[in-house]
Amino acid sequence: MFDVLLVNFWVYIMKVWIVHDSNLGNGEILAKTLGKTFEKDMEVNIGHVKKIDPAKVVADSPDIVVVGAAVRAFMTSFTSKKWIRRLHKELKKANKTVKIGATFLTHIMPEKMVAGRGNRLNNLLAKSPNVTSVYSEYLDGRVVAAEGPFEDYVLGEVEKHAVEILKLLKKK
Ligand SMILES: Cc1cc2nc3c(=O)[nH]c(=O)nc-3n(C[C@H](O)[C@H](O)[C@H](O)COP(=O)(O)O)c2cc1C
Repeated sequence: MFDVLLVNFWVYIMKVWIVHDSNLGNGEILAKTLGKTFEKDMEVNIGHVKKIDPAKVVADSPDIVVVGAAVRAFMTSFTSKKWIRRLHKELKKANKTVKIGATFLTHIMPEKMVAGRGNRLNNLLAKSPNVTSVYSEYLDGRVVAAEGPFEDYVLGEVEKHAVEILKLLKKK
């Protein structure tokens, strides 16, 4: 008679949520470019800040959260900033942490004119102790014209940053 040995094993699947506030499609392209690099190693979820409830993201326990915003009328999207604040509240309420946070900013003005806005967006995400670490810089998405495309360098740089973000996660 044979004993049947049932072995239960549990495979941890890493997850990323990427939200953007894209109206003309640029932010969505940037989000999908990040997603393409991430999907080799993890489950990728992408959505618009107006459609994705931060509570749902927190319930999903992602390892990485990336929040995108655009500069319009000289301002960083209010909806993306509001989304970050709600993410913080929901993480606190659920007593959960996100290992890595990152941000990106699409814009048409020269990078040095928007760097302050990008850094403030990154700092806003870093404000919560429930976001364990925030990638050192916001990802820059400068477009040639409002409706796109991106400047030549942008998507290649975004892919490189995605690789670095993954390396950071693997060290955690
Ligand atoms: C109404 C409007 C106002 C904009 N104002 C600015 C601005 O003040 N500074 C800037 O750098 N880009 C500005 N842009 C360019 C946007 O940042 C750019 O189109 C961005 O990629 C939009 O993101 P989306 O394509 O994902 O909607 C503006 C675009 C629109 C449509």
